Amino acid sequence: MSTTFQLDTATSRANPTPQPMKRLTVPAIKRRKSDGKTDEPLVMLTAYTARQAQLLDPHCDMLLVGDSLGQVIYGLPSTLPVTLDMMIAHGAAVVRGSYHALVIVDMPFGAYEASPQDAFRAASRIMAETGAAAVKLEGGQAIAETIAFLSARGIPVMAHVGLTPQAVNALGGYAARGRSQEEHEKILADGKAVADAGAFAMVVEGVVEPIAVALTGAVEVPVIGIGASAQCDGQVLVTEDMLGMFERVPRFVKRYGDMAGYISETAANYASEVRSRAFPTEAQTYQPKS
Ligand code: KIV
Repeated sequence: MSTTFQLDTATSRANPTPQPMKRLTVPAIKRRKSDGKTDEPLVMLTAYTARQAQLLDPHCDMLLVGDSLGQVIYGLPSTLPVTLDMMIAHGAAVVRGSYHALVIVDMPFGAYEASPQDAFRAASRIMAETGAAAVKLEGGQAIAETIAFLSARGIPVMAHVGLTPQAVNALGGYAARGRSQEEHEKILADGKAVADAGAFAMVVEGVVEPIAVALTGAVEVPVIGIGASAQCDGQVLVTEDMLGMFERVPRFVKRYGDMAGYISETAANYASEVRSRAFPTEAQTYQPKS
């Protein structure tokens, strides 16, 4: 029996009814890749709120509370100003809104780089205060020791290699990585290092396709691609990108909907009915009992 509360879809208020459920576990996700192959690719999307999690949960193996919420939810210029408290608040909301998918919460910039001990303090707060099953952190060989430290202490880690957005200042932008032989070798070495350190899976972001293919073949753990290759063990996108919430569509994004158009059109209808006094009608107003 779970302690996760079901959200009442009718009212969007938390309804404290414990739900029996079988949530996917870290070992179950790892087992989806066996003998170097994943028969059915793993499906991951970002989620930041309880209601969004509730809608995505039946379709996903993993929900990632990404620090991309900095730009997507808070309008920040990058992921760098995102705080641990922000990640914890959104992580807890996503856990409350889901029952099936494995929930992974990003560790924000500054919370884990200085030492494995700092990383443990931040990661253990995430695990204890959100109920998520794992954390994700960015980096390769340089962060492998921290991944080993967390993994050995009961904190499953998803790694993130290739284009690592928290390193935007060092990388000089968000362009795809791995076009030189040196960078190609470095990304492969990063991926192998985090797998050897005990990461249960990794995201590979924004790399030329041959790197993604080689990395997927080189490690035993699932490799989840974004701007990578259909041959990865799974795929992730930022949900709002996939839903068509933004005008700018990076090359690696496929818009499966036009949510921005739908919201604009619906808000325009509402505004027009308010201005013409067509809303509210009798159906939406209370009358005294006769
Ligand atoms: O923060 C995020 O949303 C991510 C995904 C893009 C992988 O790290």
